[in-house]
Amino acid sequence: MSRYYITTPIYYVNDRPHIGHIYTTAVTDTLARYHRLVGDKVFFLTGTDEHATKVLDSATEHGMTALEWADRNAAAFRDTFERLGFSHDDFVRTTEQRHKERVRHYVKQLIESGDVYLGEYEGWYDAGQEEYVPEAKAKESDYKSPINGKALVRKKEKNYFFRLSRYGDELQALLEDGSRFEVRPKARSNEVLGRIREGLNDVPMSRTGAGDWGIKVPGDDEHTIYVWIDALFNYLSIMDTEGRRAFWPPSVQFIAKDILWFHAVIWPALLLALRKLPGNEWIELPRLLYCHSFWIREGQKMSKSLGNFVDLEEIDRYVETFGLDGLRFFLASDGPLGTTDSDFSLERFIEVYNSELANTLGNCLSRVVSMTHSYFGGKLPEKGPRVPNTEEYDGTAQRCLSTYRRAFERSDLSAAAAAAMDLVKAVDSYIARTSPFKLAKDEEQRPVVGSILYNSAEALRIAAVMLLPLIPERAGELLRRLGCGTYGEALADGGSGDFEEWTKWGLLEAGTQIVKGAALFPRMDKKRTLTRFGVGEPAPEEAKSKSKPQPKAEPEPPEEIGIEQFFETQLKVGLVQAAEKLPKSSKLLKLTVDVGEDSPRTIVAGLAKAYTPEDLVGRQVVVVANLKPAKLMGVESQGMVLAASLDGKPVILRPIDTVPPGTQVR
Ligand code: ME8
Ligand code: MG
Repeated sequence: MSRYYITTPIYYVNDRPHIGHIYTTAVTDTLARYHRLVGDKVFFLTGTDEHATKVLDSATEHGMTALEWADRNAAAFRDTFERLGFSHDDFVRTTEQRHKERVRHYVKQLIESGDVYLGEYEGWYDAGQEEYVPEAKAKESDYKSPINGKALVRKKEKNYFFRLSRYGDELQALLEDGSRFEVRPKARSNEVLGRIREGLNDVPMSRTGAGDWGIKVPGDDEHTIYVWIDALFNYLSIMDTEGRRAFWPPSVQFIAKDILWFHAVIWPALLLALRKLPGNEWIELPRLLYCHSFWIREGQKMSKSLGNFVDLEEIDRYVETFGLDGLRFFLASDGPLGTTDSDFSLERFIEVYNSELANTLGNCLSRVVSMTHSYFGGKLPEKGPRVPNTEEYDGTAQRCLSTYRRAFERSDLSAAAAAAMDLVKAVDSYIARTSPFKLAKDEEQRPVVGSILYNSAEALRIAAVMLLPLIPERAGELLRRLGCGTYGEALADGGSGDFEEWTKWGLLEAGTQIVKGAALFPRMDKKRTLTRFGVGEPAPEEAKSKSKPQPKAEPEPPEEIGIEQFFETQLKVGLVQAAEKLPKSSKLLKLTVDVGEDSPRTIVAGLAKAYTPEDLVGRQVVVVANLKPAKLMGVESQGMVLAASLDGKPVILRPIDTVPPGTQVR
């Protein structure tokens, strides 16, 4: 068992969380869960960065004190992370005493050692980023912020400086070697090395005029510790206690490319400076800094000014529609972990969700469940004779497992997800090849069918264990369905595991009850889902309800219902008396239907693509008579006409013989 300390950046609290924050935290959470699963002792830290000037500014804009505003947004981060089920072990706020006290302690040590000194600085300052921009870069971007386009400010201050220049050579050697401190992907490491080789200057690490917002430089109340120095220390301050020091150094720190410089240069240099001092020998450098790229939208950077961030409301709607695990899976498999940005496309989201989760995983489970119930009364059969003409399954499982582990060891979440899904796909093709549903017709073949089902369930069980870090709740449910309730739940909760043991072939016991249930991941109708999110051409029935709370995804019907439940639906024969097109719709017809009541009903039905009004007048149809009325394109529809759906085209159902309108259908 080894210790594994993993961190996210701490996020600015000038606003609420957006998809970028959620992404890095979800990736980190997945890694943390994987390491717990394989038995490491994990510490996962996240939190908020609060002493930035922009926090103070936006507080003022909102008529609050900086701390009130920070409290509110920090709570939004904390609540969101909790709601999303992130498994962090601590949540740091830089306004907390435990952090501030340690930061002052570190800075005091650095002043004493001479690595921090008082000097003067003048340069171009990017207020949004809270950083000075070097002359060459400032000129290149026309003295505007390369990040938000706002004018850079000329700033001259008496500052405390950090003697960064002293650490350039050491950092360069460390990065080139990569065994004690590594930046990944390699291209990011090279980017940093390029800049280090140009030479490093000392950097200001304090500012004046910040009032009470920030941490004072020890022994000089005029100066406030620069927010970046304050923030970077969080990773250390929170672990600098008797009980936690053993977790140091970080095994991996996740960040994105916007804050690479601070994390790959300033941060390790601060640690090198501290480490030299007596008693600080334990302060080693982080082993790995992992720098991902950005989620963008339609090729554009997400930004506040463009208003195109995937914000909290939108994230909530994704969770409502695809489930938390649906969102996690998409972020993991399509996210920008490499050096290119990823486009956040709902269309792609739906595709990944449907093909991997609803189809591959969901269908595989339902096949195993339904065959076990049809042929073995729901109890997992014995692993009987070897199935003719098949390779042994455990080999496939072992192959997928080792790919999976290698992928996680290099933080390649999408490859890890793919390896788990490959095992599921192997189950599918195994079932297709061995045709248990055909063999089952022959009583003598039952033991072979039993073997096929046992093998399939067992492979699916192992895949479920592999999926736990990625989709913890649904993978836990999958294990429960396969009769592994207790350990599935313990593991889904992030319990530390004996991965080797749980992924050994043959753990499922014959006779285990296999549980039926609703679809693990209900399939999404692409067009409707796009429409619901306002992407593409809105379908008329959805357009009007845009501002209302969005309906949840329709759950797939349970496999079986009772007859009473069926009779809750009142079906009647109706006679179409009149039909006309609805002016603004290519799909809808307005029907007048006699269902044997005092007056005929108006029913709006999506039949126009298959039938003209003339086709329908005088025809008998079957009507759902107790459906709640709904307005479609401004017309109240009082029921629904039943039709078979052939490649999306309706084919109307009608009685073979003519019966009086209002006759019950049952
Ligand atoms: O920079 N795509 O905080 P911050 C992916 N407080 N990830 C994104 C993203 C995007 N479009 N946008 C942001 C700060 N992120 C400092 C950090 S650490 C000592 C101090 C993620 O609120 C990504 O992890 O601006 C990025 O590095 C971080 O949010 C920046 O968050
Ligand atoms: Mg930022």
